[in-house]
Amino acid sequence: MTGPFTVAIDGPAAAGKGTVGRAVAARFGFRHLDTGLLYRAVGARVLAGAEPVAAARDLTPEDLTVEGLRTQAVAQAASEVAVIPEVRAALAEFQRWFARMDGGAVLDGRDIGTVIVPDAEVKLFVTASAEVRADRRFLELSPGDPALTRAAVLADVEARDARDIGRAESPLIAAADATIIDTSCLSIEDAVEAATARVAEKLARR
Ligand code: DC
Repeated sequence: MTGPFTVAIDGPAAAGKGTVGRAVAARFGFRHLDTGLLYRAVGARVLAGAEPVAAARDLTPEDLTVEGLRTQAVAQAASEVAVIPEVRAALAEFQRWFARMDGGAVLDGRDIGTVIVPDAEVKLFVTASAEVRADRRFLELSPGDPALTRAAVLADVEARDARDIGRAESPLIAAADATIIDTSCLSIEDAVEAATARVAEKLARR
């Protein structure tokens, strides 16, 4: 495909954005960026003693592949550094470049359709109730962390939602022209199907 074609997927933690994003990218042969990993990598460096803005400016590809970015502690640290405007600005340029290279790109995050690529060809907002998201995250994390409780995961999800939605800079919100996919009562296959149908429809009209 010539020219850029961006699929922006936003939504709260553990709503299924990553799964939907990876499936859409695989289906259409698009590249995929989980932008949460950028914030997690900065969060992990801050937990190791770095200053947040410097950590964001100096991020390297190796920081994105380090083990351990999927922990609750790193997720909280990511959500905390994500309120800092200079951190967001430092990460924005790479995201825009990735999104607008020739060929298709899928980016998932919190502000892709609203701030990073407001003219994205497809905007999806993937969401689900906090309870459903906490259950999913608990199932995912508990095998590696037997001490973890469902209540602790729910509290973490709610704390991150409050911070991501309430921050002044690029808060989590659905773009006015986004297609909402609520996965509370949808199987992952149905969510992927809804997303794929939307992308196929847009591609057909190019
Ligand atoms: O998607 P995730 O759970 O890996 O994201 C971790 C944190 O990073 C999230 O709580 C808020 C922040 N984030 C953000 O502010 N903007 C993005 N585009 C992606 C993530």
